[in-house]
Amino acid sequence: MENTQKSMSKIVELCKGRGFIFPGSDIYGGLANTWDYGPLGSRLKNNVKDTWRKRFIQERKNSYEVDADILMHPRVWEASGHVASFSDPLLDCRECKTRHRADSLIEAFDPEAHPDSMSKQEMFEFIKAHHIPCPKCGKHDFTEIREFNLMFQTYRGVTNDSKSVIYLRPENAQGEYVNFLNVQRTMRAKLPFSIGQIGKAFRNEITPGNFTFRTIEFEQMEFQTFCKEGTDGELYDYFKAYGKKYFEDLGIPAEHLRYHDHEKLAHYAKAACDIEFLFPFGWGEINGTHNRTDFDLTRHQEYSGTNMSYLDPETNERYIPYIIESTYGLDRTVLALLCEAYDEEVIDAEKNDVRTVLHLSPAVAPYKCAVLPLSKKLSAEAMEVYSSFAGEFMTDYDETGSIGKRYRREDEIGTPWCVTVDFDYATDKKVTVRDRDTMEQQRLSVEEAVKFIKDRIGF
Ligand code: GAP
Repeated sequence: MENTQKSMSKIVELCKGRGFIFPGSDIYGGLANTWDYGPLGSRLKNNVKDTWRKRFIQERKNSYEVDADILMHPRVWEASGHVASFSDPLLDCRECKTRHRADSLIEAFDPEAHPDSMSKQEMFEFIKAHHIPCPKCGKHDFTEIREFNLMFQTYRGVTNDSKSVIYLRPENAQGEYVNFLNVQRTMRAKLPFSIGQIGKAFRNEITPGNFTFRTIEFEQMEFQTFCKEGTDGELYDYFKAYGKKYFEDLGIPAEHLRYHDHEKLAHYAKAACDIEFLFPFGWGEINGTHNRTDFDLTRHQEYSGTNMSYLDPETNERYIPYIIESTYGLDRTVLALLCEAYDEEVIDAEKNDVRTVLHLSPAVAPYKCAVLPLSKKLSAEAMEVYSSFAGEFMTDYDETGSIGKRYRREDEIGTPWCVTVDFDYATDKKVTVRDRDTMEQQRLSVEEAVKFIKDRIGF
């Protein structure tokens, strides 16, 4: 069976059609760069969160999860440097009045160019020298490049005065940093220890998003390890490798992942490296490892007036810890898994019979199995079987259409096993378990089938 080409449009179509991801505010014609997760997308997303919690919080000693508020004291974002320097270089097309990111225009024109190592002026010169056209109208008449802050801001209370400005957090990390002392004290934590968090972040992105790859509201799974200066280099290398292994465990083959070391660093970082995944539209960042040094805690000490140092109980030394950050875009991870899993298999070329299948790992698949009675006359028996499975894990139930069509529907949403109830069930109490990937079938008792699936969900 050969594979045909996968494309973003086919994946987007499947996601919309099968309840994974819908356009945000759909009945109003959508809102650019926003997407809503449907019943299956939410399951998939929550399953990914569960795998992250297992790897990062449960299986790691000295790792603690927090759930900090999205709205934080505005001084947090002055201390973090986001008010001053969290911006994109934007220019406007004078002809059609659309706004563009200068670095994106350059990257789209020449994938070998490195706009992240260019100054604003150098980017402007590059665009001019190469006569890069406006992607909307094709003309070449741009304004100067200006920096636009990416943070969404709103006002607290009833007046729109500048004193009451409040930001939607652009990263989770600061929620972990401002709780460093609280967690250290209450958990009696000793360095190195880590604080992780899953939550929403917001950025006023203007570039078209490639589906959920770049959105204005997204979820991050962030993990901050507080350590002593001098141990930071080793931890940085460790988390780069840990991240890659996590993605491989989720079912992404090593050849579809690569590291990308940053040349131009964010205002807080001493070293930074992304893990990129090979999407149908090219390589894209899904994770970042950052050596943030003592920048964040030093700044919070300065701006809050609170002593953020750690007293080493062994050496009696006091110092501000370094931070190694390992951050995962949840939506990008979900998108990478969907892209990796999507497959079209030619079953019978002459009959033009192609099956679409998501080879999702059972740990993240929305449904672990589907119970399918061979005939509607078997509904009562099938519901009995369904209850045995649904008590253990997410189980689908489908009794409409031919069995072949129902298998295909489950293949398309990545259900790893279909459990068919036939007329022999009444006598032998056995069901047929069909494997999504091999399409092989075996006959098992209900108890055996439940155990068979449970043992293979894994992670
Ligand atoms: N705390 C560090 C931080 O926020 P980042 O590289 O700006 O670092 C971390 O973001 C991760 O968040 C990225 O690797 C990416 O997966 C995800 N991410 C960033 N911007 C995003 C956006 N506009 N839409 C979806 N995901 C995004």
